[in-house]
Amino acid sequence: MFDGEVDTWRIGTPEGRWAGFGPYYAMFPVNFARYIISEYSNLGETVIDPFCGRGTTNYVSQVLGRNSYGCELNPVGWLYAKTKVSPARQLGRVLRRIDEVSASQTGGDRDPVNEFQDWAWCPEVLGFINSARRNLDWRTSVVDRTVASLMLVYLHAKLGGGLSNQMRQSKSMAPDYAVRWWKERKMRPPFVDPSKFLKSRAEWRYAKGFSAAHGRSRLYFGDARVGLERYNCELASLILTSPPYLGITNYQYDNWIRLWALGGPELPEWNQKYRYANKETYDALINDVFGALALKSRADAVIVVRTDARKFTLETTAYSMDRVWPHHQLFGRKSKASKPTQTSLFGDKSEKPGEIDLIAIPQGKEPPRGFIDVATCAVIS
Ligand SMILES: C[S@@+](CC[C@H](N)C(=O)[O-])C[C@H]1O[C@@H](n2cnc3c(N)ncnc32)[C@H](O)[C@@H]1O
Repeated sequence: MFDGEVDTWRIGTPEGRWAGFGPYYAMFPVNFARYIISEYSNLGETVIDPFCGRGTTNYVSQVLGRNSYGCELNPVGWLYAKTKVSPARQLGRVLRRIDEVSASQTGGDRDPVNEFQDWAWCPEVLGFINSARRNLDWRTSVVDRTVASLMLVYLHAKLGGGLSNQMRQSKSMAPDYAVRWWKERKMRPPFVDPSKFLKSRAEWRYAKGFSAAHGRSRLYFGDARVGLERYNCELASLILTSPPYLGITNYQYDNWIRLWALGGPELPEWNQKYRYANKETYDALINDVFGALALKSRADAVIVVRTDARKFTLETTAYSMDRVWPHHQLFGRKSKASKPTQTSLFGDKSEKPGEIDLIAIPQGKEPPRGFIDVATCAVIS
């Protein structure tokens, strides 16, 4: 079996409906996780993803009867992941909470505080979002988390596909650019009734029920180095992850609108720290996390990492894997490019960097088809 040959979970099944929950920049495909998890772990074993993003590794592990542990620093990724593996079980409570949020709007909630808000959403939607920002306790309440993450999914999208004026769904737009773009086209935000819209989307999401979850998922909200130190359950037989790439994205700027909707700042704060632009700190992060993973995984664990094909990120990752698992063999392959739809909506036609999958495998186990030995070939040259 090869990941391109896994039958996609259809949208008419509970697995298909929940697996894709949460548009997230730099997410990896569900089929990739399904293939790796079913090939390289067994029922009842544990899978760890220290950079779990929207929780694909965890969700797929759970459905396939594996336990899993994930760490995620970004509230948006963590929220999607947490909802995906354990949404509120009763739809009725979710629908009621949407109505409560709507009814809890106060005086200024519908008033935009900047041009971006004025052009991005109609007053009714802005009122709902501001009420949600104040009232939803998404860190601790499962119902509030489910409502907050539903709101995030549809917060910005193509016209008609969500609560907003025309936007990308996966990635937050730069505010000035977006306002200019709407103004040039005289494109005011559409009227949307937010509670009606979100309730219909909640009903759709719940319509097929839940997949029979066999495995248990635990998710840590915070830095993987701390999360891994705190992990004290069964050692993992599989590590499946995709770390941040040096200097490419900060996961903050790309998510600034959703971070605002969770209570963050009104406009994005550009902070180089989050871009992983510094080679030394990047190298330290990768080495610290892989070092910690070695302590939380079995000696015969398989480690699969999807990463950037660019030299520094790739070499840092490959050398770190080689150092931490010296008795494993390291194989690699170029992975397929992600779909163009994530970036093309607003005319971003720039070439995206390629990605590479690395697999460290104990002696005696076969690498997947198409992988070549990193030590003897040019994958990382
Ligand atoms: C390439 S993305 C992973 C995406 C994930 N595979 C998915 O499908 O959604 C890398 C993730 O690592 C997270 N991250 C970066 N530094 C982290 C850290 N120190 N601890 C935990 N998560 C971190 C980022 O927020 C981002 O969500």
